[in-house]
Amino acid sequence: MIILGIETSCDETGIALYDTDSGLLNHALYSQIDMHSEYGGVVPELASRDHIRRILPLIEQVLSKAQLALGDINAIACTQGPGLAGALLVGASVAAALGYALNIPVLGIHHLEGHLLSPLLSTPAPQFPFIALLVSGGHTQLMQVNGVGQYRLLGETLDDAAGEAFDKTAKLLGLGYPGGAALSELARQGRPGKFKLPCPMIDSGDLNFSFSGLKTAVLTLINKQHMNPQTSADIALAFQEAIVTVLTEKSLAALSHTNLNQLVVAGGVGANQRLRRHLTRKTASIGATAFYPQLEFCTDNGAMIALAGAMRLQTNDKIRQATAGSFTVRARWSLSPGGVNTKR
Ligand code: KG4
Ligand code: ZN
Repeated sequence: MIILGIETSCDETGIALYDTDSGLLNHALYSQIDMHSEYGGVVPELASRDHIRRILPLIEQVLSKAQLALGDINAIACTQGPGLAGALLVGASVAAALGYALNIPVLGIHHLEGHLLSPLLSTPAPQFPFIALLVSGGHTQLMQVNGVGQYRLLGETLDDAAGEAFDKTAKLLGLGYPGGAALSELARQGRPGKFKLPCPMIDSGDLNFSFSGLKTAVLTLINKQHMNPQTSADIALAFQEAIVTVLTEKSLAALSHTNLNQLVVAGGVGANQRLRRHLTRKTASIGATAFYPQLEFCTDNGAMIALAGAMRLQTNDKIRQATAGSFTVRARWSLSPGGVNTKR
């Protein structure tokens, strides 16, 4: 069965073709980052308009590279939420129109489900059940994943997401938007131990996070220093160390709390090399294993949506979630059972 995956929840148009027998056939991504960076963040209306421009040429491109035609597609999976309503509507309406024209099912996929299943695109792949650390620009969550559609929220951020903290701190240091990758690049020049920043909620006794105070601590530090390129790098390193330490400690606590031994890291911040190295070493030290998506599948992409659609189609009817002709989007949408946050 061949599934067309469509992702348009924010500022990336991602398209992919996934074959349930042979895996990922082809994928393509158009990032709008250059367009939004001059405004210092994503402008929703510009995002929607650009998705309209990109989506059909990208679908044609992946089909032609995979040497397939529209008629070869057996189902469509598109991101139904959460995300920017207008941007989501572009993907959902194209998916609904194609589904109607081709008379094939259309599945509305939760964006975070795509992220947390994305390590299954790589080999070796984790086996259910596992713990997922979802760290993106909009979310920071620890989930227990028992199977497709079986997600238990263990903890989440009470304020800023990890990616948001990276972006806001990068802005304070005069780096562009989004600043996560630039900040971690700058941190490579930083001198270890030059500054120490607090590790928020590290001893809170639960699996929740809080990152807004860390950004304020960076601002206070900047205001006290005579800033120069070396000081900026030292602060970037201290910030990254604090965030990596908290994410690692809470992930280890989630593994021990659930008695599981596989950790899956997903979302844009999962591209951070320092986080990967630290998590790999720390999980190994307790006899557990960390799995990461390939770098290109850490940030938003169509492959993870096509994969999630394929996995849902292969599970029982109850969780197939075919949207059958409609194209409702859900700008806000919890991944936990029944759409309700289930805190421990
Ligand atoms: O998952 P994603 O592409 O989009 C959302 O769904 O939010 O994540 C984007 C986030 C941004 O905040 C970006 O700054 C961050 O991921 N990011 C990084 C790195 N690469 C991307 N953060 C830290 N280190 C990186 N190397
Ligand atoms: Zn995302």
